[in-house]
Amino acid sequence: MIEAQPSPAAGALRRAVTDNESRAASRHWWDLDADDYQEEHGSFLGDVDFVWCPEGLREADAGLLGEVRGRRILELGAGAAAGARWLDGQGADVVALDLSAGMLQHARAAADRSGVTVPLVQADALALPFATSSFDVVCTAFGAIPFVADSGMVMKEVARVLKPGGRWVFSITHPMRWIFLDEPGEEGLVATHPYFDRRPYVEQDADGVPSYVEQHRTLGDRIRELVGAGFVLNDLVEPEWPEGHDQIWGQWSPLRGRLFPGTAIFVSHLPS
Ligand SMILES: C[S@@+](CC[C@H](N)C(=O)[O-])C[C@H]1O[C@@H](n2cnc3c(N)ncnc32)[C@H](O)[C@@H]1O
Repeated sequence: MIEAQPSPAAGALRRAVTDNESRAASRHWWDLDADDYQEEHGSFLGDVDFVWCPEGLREADAGLLGEVRGRRILELGAGAAAGARWLDGQGADVVALDLSAGMLQHARAAADRSGVTVPLVQADALALPFATSSFDVVCTAFGAIPFVADSGMVMKEVARVLKPGGRWVFSITHPMRWIFLDEPGEEGLVATHPYFDRRPYVEQDADGVPSYVEQHRTLGDRIRELVGAGFVLNDLVEPEWPEGHDQIWGQWSPLRGRLFPGTAIFVSHLPS
């Protein structure tokens, strides 16, 4: 019997995708991957804790969101929503939003385990189902932004739902990581890919249908997206790898963390 050969279309490559392709891939991917993601990272993230990044920076220590007590806060791309539950415990009025029903199922399970329940919304960050000027703070740890083609539109949506003076804080993979292979070890120390190539990383099936899409922008692109949506940049935090922290998360490792940043956290606000 002749074994079926994989089509040349299948595999990982860099190519342009539309927002519809990105959305379909993300919903499918995060629904499929939700159990594995929580299995792998759930104990690091906790059930009621706000962790900004694999370097382990916590909102409890960093205070990037400012005063949260009594504030109305939206967490985008919340996944299992540990951050939203932590914010609830700090006295905030929180909503957690995610595109993936699979990830939100974990948010429900964690609410049952912890006894902390926050409203969960399944929606796309590109079309937020909230009225203009509804929130004091919008935040996300690695949610939504890397998975949409038009991230400038996400910035505009966030600006729309924030009140004047509202704060927008998001963490993403540090753009300089894009030039390296996605490897935590020595092989991830060699620059192999142009920083200025904005084509997304795409995994696709034999018919060329994307199953995973991750977008890259340079630091300058991100700042232009923010400013273009009306935000003022307060800070760009590049968390350092802490001494004694030896937990590897995908391509984030002590080896690489000691040499160059793995996460960029943008802290911004709308003028009052
Ligand atoms: C890397 S996970 C981060 C989850 C969580 N914030 C954490 O720290 O574990 C990315 C999340 O973004 C969500 N996401 C992807 N595209 C999205 C979109 N367009 N709108 C809203 N959420 C999206 C995914 O479903 C997933 O839960």
